[in-house]
Amino acid sequence: MIYDNHNRPITYLRLAVTDRCNLRCFYCMPEEGIKYLPKHQVLSYEEMERLVRILAQLGVQKVRITGGEPFVRAGLMPFLHRLAALDGLTDLSLTTNGVLTAPHVADMAALGVRSVNLSLDTLDRERFRKITRRDELPAVLKTLDALLKSGIQTKINAVVMDGQNIEDLIPLTELTRHLPVDVRFIEEMPFNGEGSHYPVLNWTHQRIIREIREHFPNIEKLPDPPFSTSSNYQIPGHQGTIGVIAAFSRTFCGTCNRIRLTAQGTLKTCLYDNGVLDVRAMLRTGATDEELTAAFLQAFAHRPRNGFEAENQRATVTESMATIGG
Ligand code: 5AD
Ligand code: SF4
Repeated sequence: MIYDNHNRPITYLRLAVTDRCNLRCFYCMPEEGIKYLPKHQVLSYEEMERLVRILAQLGVQKVRITGGEPFVRAGLMPFLHRLAALDGLTDLSLTTNGVLTAPHVADMAALGVRSVNLSLDTLDRERFRKITRRDELPAVLKTLDALLKSGIQTKINAVVMDGQNIEDLIPLTELTRHLPVDVRFIEEMPFNGEGSHYPVLNWTHQRIIREIREHFPNIEKLPDPPFSTSSNYQIPGHQGTIGVIAAFSRTFCGTCNRIRLTAQGTLKTCLYDNGVLDVRAMLRTGATDEELTAAFLQAFAHRPRNGFEAENQRATVTESMATIGG
């Protein structure tokens, strides 16, 4: 196992397989979309598999596939099959918006995908259309249903946005009553391709949980698993759980075990950094496994302490979450 310069183990890779998406979420992209990478600038599946293999040898145990939307890239399922067969990985998971996912759920369950995070910010079709700028709620609900039937651990990611989906906090919480689903409310971050939406964040993690507690006064705190980014709760008698992710307040950096590879093959050792290593350039100029390993180790030895330090080391944040990879 490799520890970083702040004594945190690096065990979790978030791998973006594309920057493209079939939705245009308000908190992620401007309405007209972002300028997508030309194909040759995106890592091939072979390149990604090689990097995952090297990182698994360095102690990475968990890989989460992200995007953009992973399922808009052709050939995703065969790639997942190949990752599932790699030595050393104990957890293969995926984050998806659910628009194209339902037909693949059985196959994912069969190959052992551990958990799927489904992005779902509202249960109201009109608000969904407004937030994502596409009328795809029915397809996403089909995916939710398929996931719950499959036995794959299912989490719902809901970004909490002032003026957009506050009325959904309680209905989404209500889902946990009869469904074994973990609903996670996420503070909105300024990764929307345009910079910050607000001068201050109104819906902080404290306010989110206060609002839920007003409707469910008996909500209980659960112990948080190691390296968890969410603070977890349960309403007594409910099957599912609630999580609140302080993605903007950054309360969880002290135990951060995560690194990221963007679709263009940039290594990020913090969500808020500007990319610390051009892995694609190394791959395409013939770097050996040893050279790649040495470059990874060097990057892990210089991780920022937290997301504030990472943010301070760069110019203003203007990229989209679809380029970062969630
Ligand atoms: N702020 C917070 N969360 C975001 N996500 C995407 N953009 C943002 C943002 N600006 C989350 C979505 C999605 C996951 C990939 O990242 O909830 O589920
Ligand atoms: Fe697509 Fe996810 Fe960004 Fe929404 S948040 S536009 S689903 S990549």
